[in-house]
Amino acid sequence: MSIAEKMREIAAQVGPEHVYRTVYDEDLRVLVPGKEDINAEILDTFSRIDFTGKSVVDLGCNFGFFTFYAARLGARQVVGVDREKGVLQGCEILKQHFNASVSFEAHDIDDPACGLISRTFDIAMLVEFIGKTFVVENRVAPALGFLERLSERELIVSVQKIYWIKKELGSTPEAMRVIYTDRYVRGGSFYLLNYVRDFFAPRWRMEPISEVNGDEYEKPRKLLRFVRA
Ligand SMILES: C[S@@+](CC[C@H](N)C(=O)[O-])C[C@H]1O[C@@H](n2cnc3c(N)ncnc32)[C@H](O)[C@@H]1O
Repeated sequence: MSIAEKMREIAAQVGPEHVYRTVYDEDLRVLVPGKEDINAEILDTFSRIDFTGKSVVDLGCNFGFFTFYAARLGARQVVGVDREKGVLQGCEILKQHFNASVSFEAHDIDDPACGLISRTFDIAMLVEFIGKTFVVENRVAPALGFLERLSERELIVSVQKIYWIKKELGSTPEAMRVIYTDRYVRGGSFYLLNYVRDFFAPRWRMEPISEVNGDEYEKPRKLLRFVRA
């Protein structure tokens, strides 16, 4: 069986809803199409992170695109974490195919007894994990709080800078103010990046890796680094 056939078989088993990121081979040829593709800008932005010799945890790794990429960029140890066991089976097949020295573990980061909590890494990453549902269901803070427990040194997070509350979140400014206060709700917009920045302050200082142009609406997500203040 070719790697494409193996990965398509796994994708069929887990269902399309679990194939978030398009799965690629080592030459970035598509093995299984997902909801989100990789492009040159994402690769370039991500490669600005200094992974050399570092230990890394990649929370919500899906089929491990950024787990493998961190290893290619020189990380000493990378652990990809996802709660979906079927997805992790796919990660193991890709790992063998790439001959990559990374590891994958099944954990649910919403589980208060999650075994990861006793461990720390040089870099803890949460890439393309926080989305609309997280915002509307007030689950951003618990996810960031979990991430923060996994590193003393460096956190990597990607978020959409601003959401249009009605059009993108299907919510109302009033409902968003109840969760996030007036500070992050202005007009019909919710300022997620500012919320994330302030969540980590004053313990961590934000250093955007993506270019961030003031307070205007921008897409796609911004990649952010947090270092100890
Ligand atoms: C939107 S995808 C992000 C994929 C990946 N970071 C990327 O950018 O390619 C989110 C992933 O997180 C996983 N996930 C969602 N909730 C989780 C939880 N509570 N604990 C662990 N993994 C979770 C999902 O199974 C999914 O694979």
